[in-house]
Amino acid sequence: MRNERVPDRNIAMELVRVTEAAAVAAARWMGRGDKIGADQAAVDAMRMMLDTVDMDGVIVIGEGEKDEAPMLYNGERVGNGHGPQVDVAVDPLEGTRLTALGRPGAVSVIACAPRGTLYNPQDMFYMEKIAVGFEARGVIDLSAPVDWNIRRVAMAKGMPVEEVTVIILDRDRNTDIADQVRAAGARIKFITDGDAPAAVSAGMAGSGVDMMLGIGGSPEGVVAAAALKCIGGDFQGRLWPRNDDDRKMAAEHGMDLTRVLTIDDLVRGDDVFFAATGVTGGDLLEGVEYTSGGAVSESLVMRSRSGTVRRIKTEHHWRKLEGLNTAGK
Ligand code: FBP
Repeated sequence: MRNERVPDRNIAMELVRVTEAAAVAAARWMGRGDKIGADQAAVDAMRMMLDTVDMDGVIVIGEGEKDEAPMLYNGERVGNGHGPQVDVAVDPLEGTRLTALGRPGAVSVIACAPRGTLYNPQDMFYMEKIAVGFEARGVIDLSAPVDWNIRRVAMAKGMPVEEVTVIILDRDRNTDIADQVRAAGARIKFITDGDAPAAVSAGMAGSGVDMMLGIGGSPEGVVAAAALKCIGGDFQGRLWPRNDDDRKMAAEHGMDLTRVLTIDDLVRGDDVFFAATGVTGGDLLEGVEYTSGGAVSESLVMRSRSGTVRRIKTEHHWRKLEGLNTAGK
């Protein structure tokens, strides 16, 4: 008899329909200056499609707490309740501001792993992060100086430090890190938002990015770690308190703010599934393009156990989809 508790099929192949639906819905909001509207469109579409997936999922990284988030809140059950018991991390629209302002790099993301294996950062908003691709796996250390890490990555990739490109979220809190990168002699690519896809691009060969450094959202850190586990890259994070309230909350939850969380702390085991679809075109993925009567999207679909990375270009045809939805009524 098949053991329903073991995620032995590639759920990512189904999860990509979820991120596609969210991306196609959110992309209509591109440049409209309304990040809440864009996010809500992504959440609604993602929620609807998630219910079709054969899994018994619990959101561990979601849109926040139940009372504040309309849907996809932490602790919410998702999936059709059949199939494997999994933790689910979602970011229906990673880059709400990017979408609202019509800038590149917004994506819709989901990751899934067996129940109890995804790290829960609780309410710790920020995490200091380092992300690299497979050549530099095992050579990084977030507790070491920035220039040490850059030199290690350069050596692992067989390139001079001056050619190493580090992607950094452009924030005041990352100024010191950027200064250290400059002092080391490496190049910087600044982004205004979206450090999860930035971390993934640091792990993808041919992206032109060698590492991601800096302090960004903790949920985005877990999502990025899931993707990097799939592509064999490396990721480390350390919770970063904004103020004394964060310090107090971390202490109450027994969270050690000095601890470097490895990729295996953030995503335990080797059975993680990841899907992402571009909303506005960027380094990692092309954005949604609307065509007459439909849309075209590009997605990444990955599974850690097999190491398979798929890039999927999908044509969506509204009339046919409507026909499907009304069939049998
Ligand atoms: P949103 O999609 O919620 O706008 O998040 C985008 C993002 O830039 C993340 O990629 C990043 O981790 C986080 O926000 C950084 O937070 P902040 O904007 O507070 O610096």
